[in-house]
Amino acid sequence: MTEAVHTPRVFSGIQPTGNLTLGNYLGAVKRFVEMQNSGIETIYCMVDLHAITTWQDPGALRHATRELAAGFIASGLDPKKSILFNQSQVSAHAELGWVFNCVARMGWLNRMTQFKDKAGKNREAASVGLFAYPNLMAADILVYHATHVPVGEDQKQHLELTRDIAEKFNHDYKVDWFPITEPVIEGAATRVMSLRDGTKKMSKSDPSDMSRINLTDDADTIAKKIRKAKTDPEPLPDSLEGLDDRPEARNLINIYAGLSGETPKQVIRDHAGQQFGQFKPDLADLAVATLAPISTEMDRLMTDPAEIDRLLGDGANRAAAIATPILEHTFEIMGMVRSREV
Ligand code: AMP
Ligand code: TRP
Repeated sequence: MTEAVHTPRVFSGIQPTGNLTLGNYLGAVKRFVEMQNSGIETIYCMVDLHAITTWQDPGALRHATRELAAGFIASGLDPKKSILFNQSQVSAHAELGWVFNCVARMGWLNRMTQFKDKAGKNREAASVGLFAYPNLMAADILVYHATHVPVGEDQKQHLELTRDIAEKFNHDYKVDWFPITEPVIEGAATRVMSLRDGTKKMSKSDPSDMSRINLTDDADTIAKKIRKAKTDPEPLPDSLEGLDDRPEARNLINIYAGLSGETPKQVIRDHAGQQFGQFKPDLADLAVATLAPISTEMDRLMTDPAEIDRLLGDGANRAAAIATPILEHTFEIMGMVRSREV
């Protein structure tokens, strides 16, 4: 039996498709920065192999990958403290992804709600990659023996699958090799909702740009989107229970809390009885104060794409140095002959 010692290591990924939204920022990137600064080893990936599960124009993918890297760095990720890279530069992800295609069961993947949402009515036309995507996600995590994965609420089911895959591999090969990863779904804003519909997730792919705040939006655009956000005519309540059945009001309170670092309870206490006409300008000021410096820094970083590419290449080398031995040992456990000189 191989006894594995699993020291704490954080891994997470974001797809380089479209803009980073306020949902990505509060649900994921802000947490990434906190974990980096807490001194744990942190690895953050632009998952370009995930992006191509739906069609990506090559020029747009290249741009989105660099822009996501700029967004990470502008939000406080430090390429010296964290390992930052794009997934396709480390081939171990795809290799372990194949292994997990052979570990996971069809029935497990058939239960994934994100596939059902993304494939829509015409499942026959969805790519095989879109169906198998959670296996690649499990590989992203387990190829580093990552123990903690910060994500938004929508990724919970995929992380449960990652645990199932690790357990089945360990069981089938009678080893204690892959760690059972902990999801880290924390903060006031693990599920930021659309500004147009408080029952729908804020998403990069929503056709309405007014439904989301992008990290690339300027101050005027941010303020306008918050001013026009859908609300109800009631004033803010004085307790969290008063937000039941008021999804839009709840969303704006959670966004405020996510941005200010307070709890939703504190935010309610400070703003009880206010009309949205009063609350929205406060929220807009807070959002602009937090996000405008990030978008300015992103613009500056994007003027030097060669430097971004250099940083990603350096990160990929450091990532591969961790992943390659883990992949090699996995193949050995499975009985693959590994005799090449490397
Ligand atoms: P994606 O943009 O789908 O690659 O998501 C990247 C990360 O952002 C994942 O951890 C998601 O869970 C998180 N995320 C995406 N949208 C939201 C949202 N509306 N609220 C909170 N977290 C989100
Ligand atoms: N599936 C995630 C999303 O759509 C992105 C992702 C890919 C990821 N690989 C990962 C997140 C590994 C955490 C860990 O948001």
